[in-house]
Parts: sequence; C-alpha cells; structure tokens
Amino acid sequence: MNHKQIRKIFLSFFKRKQHQIMNSASIVSKTDSSLMFTNAGMNIFKDFFIGKKQSQYSRIANFQKCLRITGKHNDLFEVGKDTYHHTMFEMLGNWSFGDYFKKESIKWAWELLTEVYKMDKSNIYVTIFEGNKEDKLSFDSESFQYWKNQIDDSKILFFDKKHNFWEMGKTGPCGPCTEIHVDLRNEKEKLKIPGKNLVNKKHPLVIELWNLVFIQFFRKSDGTLVKLPTFHVDTGMGFERLCMILQNKKSTYDTDLFTYLIKSIAQKTDQIYGVTDKIDIVIRIIADHMRSVVFAISDGIIPSKNKSGYVIRKILRRIIVTYYLTLKIKKPFLFQLVKPIICYIKNSYLNKLHLKDDISTIILREEKLFLKTINLGINKLYKIIEKLRANKCHLIAVKIIYWLYNTYGLPIEISKRITNKNKIQVFYSIFRKGSCK
Ligand code: SER
Repeated sequence: MNHKQIRKIFLSFFKRKQHQIMNSASIVSKTDSSLMFTNAGMNIFKDFFIGKKQSQYSRIANFQKCLRITGKHNDLFEVGKDTYHHTMFEMLGNWSFGDYFKKESIKWAWELLTEVYKMDKSNIYVTIFEGNKEDKLSFDSESFQYWKNQIDDSKILFFDKKHNFWEMGKTGPCGPCTEIHVDLRNEKEKLKIPGKNLVNKKHPLVIELWNLVFIQFFRKSDGTLVKLPTFHVDTGMGFERLCMILQNKKSTYDTDLFTYLIKSIAQKTDQIYGVTDKIDIVIRIIADHMRSVVFAISDGIIPSKNKSGYVIRKILRRIIVTYYLTLKIKKPFLFQLVKPIICYIKNSYLNKLHLKDDISTIILREEKLFLKTINLGINKLYKIIEKLRANKCHLIAVKIIYWLYNTYGLPIEISKRITNKNKIQVFYSIFRKGSCK
C-alpha cells in the first residue's frame, strides 16, 4: 500500500462514520499566539475544546502537517539517531466536539487498524492512564472497560501522567489518553523479551502509533485543572509510523514518504545509505530537517533574524554544520533537494505557493551566506592558532571560541573540531594552571 492509499483509507473510514473531512491547516500556528508552529493536530481546534467557539461540525477527520522544534513538544535532538522521530511529521486525526467519546473512539481505532488495515492483532499493546494524586485524578477505568471488549487484559498496560495524560503546553485543554503501540520485532526477538516490557522504553521497533486523547480538563496557569462542561476527542496517529507498519519496514525513513529523498541526498553527497550508522544518521538528519524547512517556507516562513524565521534559519544551519563537519562538503547542495519535496507537498496538500522567490533560491541564498560566515570565522580562528603556536602555546580559552561565535557566527562545533585537529586544547577556567599569557 502506498502512502496515498493509506491516507485515503483513513479519511474514507471516518467519512463512513459521519465525519467531515478537512484538509490540513498551515504548519505555522495562526490561531494560537502561544505557539510558533502547529505542533499537534489539535492546535487549530483549541477554541472548540475550551468552548470559546462552536465547531460547525461535531465530527471531523483530517491530516495535519506538524512541526516539533520548539516548546514543550520538541523532537529535534532525537531526530536522525533513531529511525522513527521527526521534526516535521503528519498526523492523522479524528475529532469529536461534544459528540462521541471513549467507547466509539476505542472501538473505531481497533476496527480501522485490525479490520481495515489488517494489522496483526498479536502485535498490538495499549496503554491507559493510571491516575495522579497531585492532580486528584483516578485511573481511567472507562477506557480500561472499553479496551477489554477488544483486546486481552494482558495487552493493556498502565502508565503515569508523563505518558498517558496529554497536554498541549503549560496551560490549555488536556486530558487522559490511551495509546496504541505496535511491536514490529521478529518472532525470535519477541520470544526473548515480551513486547509489553518494551512499551514506552524507546525501542525502535516497539513504537507508539496512535494517541487517543480525551479532552476533559483545562490546565490553568496556576497549575490546577478545571473540568470542561463538554468532553471532546482528539486523536493523533503518526502518518510516517503508520506507513512504516503497513509497508513492512523497520524505519520510517524506508517508507515511500522518504525513499525518494534519501536516494537524492545519497546521490548528491556521494554516499551510500544503509552501510554505516554515522552516515545514515547524517542522511536522516538532512532528510528530516529539509522537509521541515521546505514545508515551513512553503507556508510563508522565510529564514530570517526574527521569531519563526530565525527558528527555520537555525534548522537550516544545523544541516549545514552537519554536512560540513561529517561529509566534508563545502559547497551548497541542499537547494537541489527542494524540487522533490515541493512535488510531495503540492500533491498531498494542494498548496498554492505565493512566494516571490522560489524555495530553492531562498535555500541557496541561505547556504551561500552561512558557508561564507563559516569560512570567515575559520580564517580568524587560524590566525589565532598561528599566534598561539608562535608563543609555543597549546591552549585556547573557551571564551575565544564563544567570541568567534558571537562576533563572526562561527559555530562552536566547528571551532572545537579545528582546535582539536590542530592539537590545541580548549580550557574552561581562567585560573587553570599552565594557561598561556
Ligand atoms: N494531541 C495528541 C497528540 O498530539 C493527539 O492528537 O499526540
């Protein structure tokens, strides 16, 4: 099944359950000033949950492009190292605004996964909120009852607030959630360790797929919870992970959402994907971050010095530092990856792009600018190293590394790599014995 069919099946399933189908909103948060980017499908529906506005439809199903690079939900540092986290991802969701609740959500999620997508039931585990004393919340017995109608008790696991109580941010609508996890290991591995012992343990093949959130409360700024007058459903299923499961892959980066891009990166950098961890991680970081950058620019965020533009510039620069240091590439090439990502966006989201410059021109400009900054900073650093050597000194104060960063924008990782290569040790204390005058 390709990703287009997988998405279509999800939407048709919920259409049959009387849901209104909606296209994704922008990846840039427009409705909530507390967020820069849309970090979950529910952001755009926040006002419906807290009763500030009334939804025209009581049931909606959609797919939403999300970006998790700032704030409470931030996956930036997980990306690349593993095979299933992304800064930019797509979320499939079904929503009830004061309409159906736990019973239908659980029943339909099970029906879709096992009867429509035909996932192997024996690989599925579910988790339930165990309660929390501080918030005076008891165990989610309702979800437990409904899950017992579908799945064996031994597959139902209980977790705390960190895993099974979903909150959008420090304040806002929230509630207990029940998550669906899938064990994708082979039979031999399953015999060694039962899947239930690996749920929520960051195992790359025992992963969370779908989060069914029951919005029952509002978290106030003083930390207390207020019960909402009407209850709602907010579910979010990771599209990349769903494709990984249904396409029998062991990594989201091996699904048809990524293979075209991975291939293109490998070609342009003259590397082979799938041979060494070090190179694979870099290729995955480039693929993930480039999707984030291109999606954000296509929704109107231009890399700049300000707010969301700055975040996108930082992500782009993170890729450049990564390719500069690990792949030893010194010339712009990311701009050549834009075209295939734009094709994907246009096909899936029917985005109309209204940008003055095309996205590859914007990215090329950023790459050139930053590579020039790096070169200028490196020249300054080498002049400092020459002087140190002339004084027979092999130490450099960390404040110089920071000065190069603050004044010339030379990334700290690059300074450290160069000093190390030149056998100059960075010292952190001004009182360290043996420091050079
Ligand atoms: N709000 C939940 C999440 O983002 C479910 O959509 O995981």
